Amino acid sequence: MNDIKNNYDSHRGDIRNVSGTVGWESPANIALVKYWGKYPVQLPMNPSLSFVLKQSVVRIYLEYSIGDTDGAGVRDFTLNGAPNLNFQSRIGSFILSLQPIFPFLSKMNLSIRSESTFPHSAGIASSAAAFSALSLCLCSIESLLYEKPGPGMAENPESRSFLQKASYVARLGSGSACRSLQSGFVVWGRTGILPESSDEYAVGLPGSEVAPVFNTLRDAILVVDDATKKVSSSAGHALMNAHAYREARKVQAADNLEKMVIALKTGDESLFFKVLENEALSLHSLMMSSNPGYLLMRPATVSIIENILDFRQQSGIGIGFTLDAGPNIHLLYFERDRSAVKGFIEQSLLPFCSKRRWIDDGMGNGPRAI
Ligand code: PMV
Repeated sequence: MNDIKNNYDSHRGDIRNVSGTVGWESPANIALVKYWGKYPVQLPMNPSLSFVLKQSVVRIYLEYSIGDTDGAGVRDFTLNGAPNLNFQSRIGSFILSLQPIFPFLSKMNLSIRSESTFPHSAGIASSAAAFSALSLCLCSIESLLYEKPGPGMAENPESRSFLQKASYVARLGSGSACRSLQSGFVVWGRTGILPESSDEYAVGLPGSEVAPVFNTLRDAILVVDDATKKVSSSAGHALMNAHAYREARKVQAADNLEKMVIALKTGDESLFFKVLENEALSLHSLMMSSNPGYLLMRPATVSIIENILDFRQQSGIGIGFTLDAGPNIHLLYFERDRSAVKGFIEQSLLPFCSKRRWIDDGMGNGPRAI
């Protein structure tokens, strides 16, 4: 771990008084195989697999200036134009914890402006998008301070080591955030299936390993409940430490990852939905069977799931559901069925959604410098 961390340490050395602004837009991601349970520091108990969304993004503009004195930090933080002390304090602690990786932070004053496309209080987690955007901003500053002058490196999302470091840093903010750094299908956590995979950052599944139909995936996010969750993801991860099914979950996740990778490669849609739904229901079963147990699904969650299964059986259309650690449904389907699925959502599913709210999202292209 230390060796790897040292590989990621910034160059040390003198930095003069500099200032500037960097900005990144970064997406949320939806896990097909779920990360649930972790070791310190934010290392996953099992490997997970996801893809990034297109519409659900966070944009962060980070204004920085370096002074001569120590003790700098996040001077102000706004979300969609309004100061947000809660986020400011969470991000302030995150930035403080990153000083061993980015020593320049100890002398840096930061002012953060963030914008989110997530509907206000829709109960949709934006932390993966926010922490990945913030990590990209920090890596950009590092590049600007220490790389040879000239554009390119900081803004070049193709740069492998740049993205790998951003993924490593994003993971420390929120585990699943490390999977928001690139397009396509992304794996986080060591697995024999992918030799370059790591517990410390996410890597992409090569495009040649994915049948074209899966690059047309769409995600209809059905907002069942917009209240803040009663049990946070961090508390849920912690309950896996002494979970009676902990070892069985590791075996199941490895098995599901293998099956999902086969489904993606062979274009096996039916296997894809089978594994997708097994993962979603297993995640929520693990919550229910934790000690103490808890329930994040709402009655409307169950009604939507039943409607989806009935519709699939009657229409033969390839759709399926997954869930994050919350009550909202992610309905996955393919571009070719867009109009039929839209009709189904409007007619049969919106009555179960809070204020008939849903987000018409799909597979995205990953982060971009702004
Ligand atoms: O990244 P966290 O700590 O918010 O955990 C996310 C966990 C799930 O969303 C339930 C699963 C996943 O792999 O994204």
